[in-house]
Amino acid sequence: MPCPEPIRTPSAGEGGYPGANLRKPEVTKLRPIFKDFTLLKQKASQQLFDCLDQLAEGCLVVDQDVRVVMISDRYAANLGVKPEDVLGREIETFLPNSLMRQVVVTGKPILLEIFETPTHTLVVSRMPIREEDGQVVGAMAFALYSDLEALKPFMDRFSQLQADLDHAHRKLAEARRSKYTFSSYIGNSPGTMEAKRLARRAALVHAPVMLLGETGTGKELLAHAIHAGGPRVERPFVTVNVAAIPEALLEAEFFGVAPGAYTGADRKPRPGKFEVADGGTLFLDELADMPLALQAKLLRVLQDQEFEPLGSNRVIRVDVRIIAATSRDLEAMVAEGLFRKDLFYRLNVLTIPLPSLRERISDLDLLCEHLLEKIGHAFGTVGRDLSPAAFDLLRRHPWPGNVRELENALERAMLNSDADTLVPADFPGLQRSARVPAPAPPRPATLAGVEEEAGRRALAAALEASHGNRAEAARRLGIGRTTFYRRLRRNRV
Ligand SMILES: Nc1ncnc2c1ncn2[C@@H]1O[C@H](COP(=O)(O)OP(=O)(O)OP(=O)(O)O)[C@@H](O)[C@H]1O
Ligand SMILES: [Mg+2]
Repeated sequence: MPCPEPIRTPSAGEGGYPGANLRKPEVTKLRPIFKDFTLLKQKASQQLFDCLDQLAEGCLVVDQDVRVVMISDRYAANLGVKPEDVLGREIETFLPNSLMRQVVVTGKPILLEIFETPTHTLVVSRMPIREEDGQVVGAMAFALYSDLEALKPFMDRFSQLQADLDHAHRKLAEARRSKYTFSSYIGNSPGTMEAKRLARRAALVHAPVMLLGETGTGKELLAHAIHAGGPRVERPFVTVNVAAIPEALLEAEFFGVAPGAYTGADRKPRPGKFEVADGGTLFLDELADMPLALQAKLLRVLQDQEFEPLGSNRVIRVDVRIIAATSRDLEAMVAEGLFRKDLFYRLNVLTIPLPSLRERISDLDLLCEHLLEKIGHAFGTVGRDLSPAAFDLLRRHPWPGNVRELENALERAMLNSDADTLVPADFPGLQRSARVPAPAPPRPATLAGVEEEAGRRALAAALEASHGNRAEAARRLGIGRTTFYRRLRRNRV
C-alpha cells in the first residue's frame, strides 16, 4: 500500500486551530470524527505502520514469545535470511543479539539504536505492541536506515564532539602529567647519586615513598620523576600541598563533597584528589602540616583504599600510590605527639633523604650550567657564564634555600646584568651573606629616591628571610607575585 497522505490539521487560516485562532471551533462539525474515535485510531495505527514499513528499510513483528509473526522482504534481505525460513521461529535463533525480547519483557521501546547484523549496519527502532488493557502481546521493529550515509550529518557532528572531548581529556591528562624525569635531577656527587638510585627503585614498586629534605632540595622534582619512571606514568599525578590549604577545607580537598553536603553551598558534587588520582599518584606535599584529625582519616584510607566523600555514604574504592614530602623532622614530631606514629610508619616505607646543596656542593658547577641554560631559555635569551670569582662566591655561600635559592640568585643576576659573564657584583645578596661589605648605596636626595631605597631593602629582606623563595617573599610583603617580580626588576634587587 502506498504511503498515505499525511493527516492534515486545519491551519489557522482554515479556522478551528486551537490557540492560533481564538474563535471557538464549531463543536457540531467535530462530532462525527469523535464518534468513530476507535475506528480512526485503528486506521491511524494501520496507516502509520504501513507508512513506516514503506519508509523504512523493512519491518519485523514478533509475538509475546518473541517468535516472528511477520517480516518484510526487505528486512529479511537486510538480515540475510529468507522470510519463509524464519516465520514462527524465536528471533534469537537467527539473530542472536536481537533486543526484541528485551522490548517484549520490559514493555519499553528502544527508539534509536545502531544494530550490527552479519551483513549490514542498521539503525533500528523497536516498540512494544499492547492490548487495550496495556498488556504486551508482542513487539515491532523498523530498520530505519541500512546505510549510515543518511545519518552522516549527525555522525559528523557526533565525531566532532567526540574529538573535542578526547582533546580536552588529553589536555587534562597532560596537565596532570609529570613535569620532570630522573634526568632533571642534576648532579653526580655521591649523595645525589644515592638519592637517584633509591628514587629509581621506588618508581618500580607500589609502596609509599617519603621524600625528606630541606626546602628547595628537589623533593617535588623527584616526586614527579618517580611517577614518570613507573608503571603509572599514563595515569594522573596529583599534588595536594597540605600547608597551602586552610585546615577546614582539607578534608573536602582530599575526599570530595557529595551534592548538597553543605546547605547553601555549591550543590554540585566535587571529586576529591584521591578520586582524581585514581590509578595514578597522589603527592602529599608538606605532609607534616596535616592536622591530627585528618591524619587519622588518611591512615584509614591508606589501609582500606576506600573512603566516603563528605556528606555521602557512597563508598569509593581507589588505587592510589602515595608519595609524601616534608622538610620537617617528622620523627621528632612523632615524639612530641604532633604527628601520628601509625601514619608515620605507614608512610615511611621507602624513605629517600635528599642532600642539601651544602652537602653536595661538588654538584654546583653542573647545577649552575643547567640552571643558567634553563633560565636563559625561559627569558628567551642565551645562557650566561659565571666568572671564576662569581663561582667561588657561590661555592662559599651556605645555601639555606638550596637549589631554589641558587636558581633565584642566578635569575636575579641575569636580570640585573646584560654582560655575557656574571661577576660577583651581580650577586649583591650573596656578597652580604659572605660578609664582604657591600658598597653603601648613594644617599638618596629626593622623596622618590628614599621610597625606592626603602622598597629595595624590603624586597631584599623578604627574599633573604624566605631563603630566596619568591612566592613566600611576596606573601610576607603582602603583595601578589606579579607585583613582586615587577618591583624586583624596577628596584634592581
Ligand atoms: N637536583 C636538582 N637538579 C635540578 N634542579 C633542581 C634540583 N633540585 C631542585 N631543583 C630545582 O629547584 C627548585 C626547587 O625544587 P623543588 O620544588 O622540587 O624543591 P622542594 O624540595 O619541593 O622544596 P620545598 O620544600 O620548599 O617545597 C625547582 O625549580 C627544581 O627544579
Ligand atoms: Mg616542594
